[in-house]
Amino acid sequence: MSGTKQFKCVCLCACVHVCVCVYSACQEFPDSDPDDTSEELTEVVCLESDLQDGQMLEVEVGHHSVLLTRSEGKYSAIGNQCTHYGAPLSKGFISGNRVRCPWHGACFNVQTGDLEEFPGMDCLPCHKVKIQNSKVYVSINKRTLRQEKRIKNMGAAVPGVTHTVLLLGGGAASLICAETLRQENFSGRIIMVTRDDLLPYDKTRLSKVMNVESDSILLRRMEFYHQYDIEVWLRKEALSVDTDKKTVSFDDGSVQSYDQLLISTGCRAKGLDLPGMKLDNVRMLETPEDARQIHSACLGCNVVLVGTSFVGMEVASYLIDKASSITVIGSSELPYQNTLGPEIGRVTMMMLSEKNIRFFMNDNVTEVRGVNGKVKEVTLKSGKVIPADVLIVGIGIIPNSEFLRGSKIQMDSKNFVTVDKYMRTNIPEVFCGGDLATFPLAMAKNRLVNIGHWQMAQAHGRIAALNMLDKPTELNSVPFYWTVLLGKTIRYAGYGEGYTEIVMKGNFEDRRFLALYIKNDEVIAAASLNYDPAVSAVAERFAAGKVITKREAQSDTLSWLQLS
Ligand SMILES: Cc1cc2nc3c(=O)[nH]c(=O)nc-3n(C[C@H](O)[C@H](O)[C@H](O)COP(=O)(O)OP(=O)(O)OC[C@H]3O[C@@H](n4cnc5c(N)ncnc54)[C@H](O)[C@@H]3O)c2cc1C
Ligand SMILES: *[C@@H]1O[C@H](CO)[C@@H](O)[C@H](O)[C@H]1NC(C)=O
Ligand SMILES: *[C@@H]1O[C@H](CO)[C@@H](O)[C@H](O)[C@H]1NC(C)=O
Ligand code: FES
Repeated sequence: MSGTKQFKCVCLCACVHVCVCVYSACQEFPDSDPDDTSEELTEVVCLESDLQDGQMLEVEVGHHSVLLTRSEGKYSAIGNQCTHYGAPLSKGFISGNRVRCPWHGACFNVQTGDLEEFPGMDCLPCHKVKIQNSKVYVSINKRTLRQEKRIKNMGAAVPGVTHTVLLLGGGAASLICAETLRQENFSGRIIMVTRDDLLPYDKTRLSKVMNVESDSILLRRMEFYHQYDIEVWLRKEALSVDTDKKTVSFDDGSVQSYDQLLISTGCRAKGLDLPGMKLDNVRMLETPEDARQIHSACLGCNVVLVGTSFVGMEVASYLIDKASSITVIGSSELPYQNTLGPEIGRVTMMMLSEKNIRFFMNDNVTEVRGVNGKVKEVTLKSGKVIPADVLIVGIGIIPNSEFLRGSKIQMDSKNFVTVDKYMRTNIPEVFCGGDLATFPLAMAKNRLVNIGHWQMAQAHGRIAALNMLDKPTELNSVPFYWTVLLGKTIRYAGYGEGYTEIVMKGNFEDRRFLALYIKNDEVIAAASLNYDPAVSAVAERFAAGKVITKREAQSDTLSWLQLS
């Protein structure tokens, strides 16, 4: 480490004004001095010529990983660790002034460190760069040396401002809406109401690390909500909304009025329409408590899992070294048949089969039998009978919108709430976002879609907040999703519904591939395994509104992706 050492003097005498410091009584603070804002740690990180325009480079300053970029001649430096799960951004994809994370697609402005696309929540520290004698110097403020994340400046409520924004649901969409309102200096009241008994948490973890402490997956701690005046009401369920009176009624008999409303109550797991669903050890995965219970119930047991979409496959993979047997039942021919497609379905099924997971595909559960109130076996349409100590049902979702029946809020045929690109429902001052919303997807020619992705729910929350504040902003987020199987992540970007063809790069045998989904001679989505940062690169092309033609996708080189 370079630079001069800082000393903090501990004065042993009682005088205030003239204090003679005895050297031996000084404590050494080599890295930071909390009283000294001007102190910076400066290091030469590379030569000016090491970086071409449009490139990025990971450099180190005081053992800190920094992302150095050069765009239109200007050098910039921000933290290199993604604020979501810490991926090295230098392995991501840079285009213009932003870098997209290789893991789950979060985007950061390289000049400011600001978060521009979810799933992260926080911004990155931004550092000073100067060029002298053809050398590039980066300076880090010593006070913030240890802060890998930067929370955006936020205001708080101002006493006397009565304007109330009511957020129904305590998930990703509601939380980001609340935070965005405060970032934009909204000074009224923010109330978030959820029937959960837990503050907003990272739901995506539930099927990946099931034996999880609730505390460890909270997105923000209680102090955060206090600091920024975000009221969180737990264990309270909305029962009805009156949009004429602008009120919401809750299960405890209380009624709350609002000036603006966000409905983001999401979806819940769908059960099997069979009598046996009420037996003990028949489980669905919705909360951290469910996840922990499934984890302990399955240890050393015969587990039957119904459903081969994302959650079902993740749970099966998680249980591999824990259950004594795992049987998966799917109603389609292959897993992810209607999402990632049969090719990836086949390879993932093979990966899990190698770990002794048994698959019964093209089949359905017709009966769940129990003994002494506990599940014992399930019967399939094909006639097979499978012993089960635990039955996990992951066959799809139902929107949490029953409480909107009888209101004037418009829903579609499947009871999802319809919104426009500003997240507005048909009723003024009523917004909807997250899994519950049917919305126009910009990159799919404004087709109305439901997309159950974490980052999309966050994006909805942000867009709703900006439009509540009369800062007209359209939703233009590119869908990005990931799923973890056997410790490997499959990444997905775009909207592949209705694709007619898949162009493959790499190969399935090596478990290293990039699948490009084609419709009308254009790439509409991409999925990958061990092929970073290709999916992030594709996502950036979509975000820029650039078409990737089928011909480009088919070309032998991937030069169109500009992967170095
Ligand atoms: C197990 C699992 C794994 C997942 N993994 C991934 C992943 O890897 N990547 C990814 O991108 N996405 C993943 N998802 C999807 C992602 O979690 C969702 O897209 C996201 O949580 C949606 O956020 P939301 O705010 O719309 O709703 P939710 O997070 O579902 O929150 C809804 C909230 O509303 C509350 N609520 C419901 N009804 C009422 C009512 N009447 N009154 C009051 N409160 C109510 C609920 O209690 C909850 O707090 C996963 C989902 C699950 C279930
Ligand atoms: C919010 O207020 C602060 C302090 O007055 C100001 O610096 C900041 O620019 C404001 N933010 C926005 C988005 O208006
Ligand atoms: C299983 O049930 C689903 C939903 O009820 C149905 O769509 C599907 O065709 C059934 N599959 C088989 C193989 O019976
Ligand atoms: S680690 Fe960067 S988006 Fe998840």
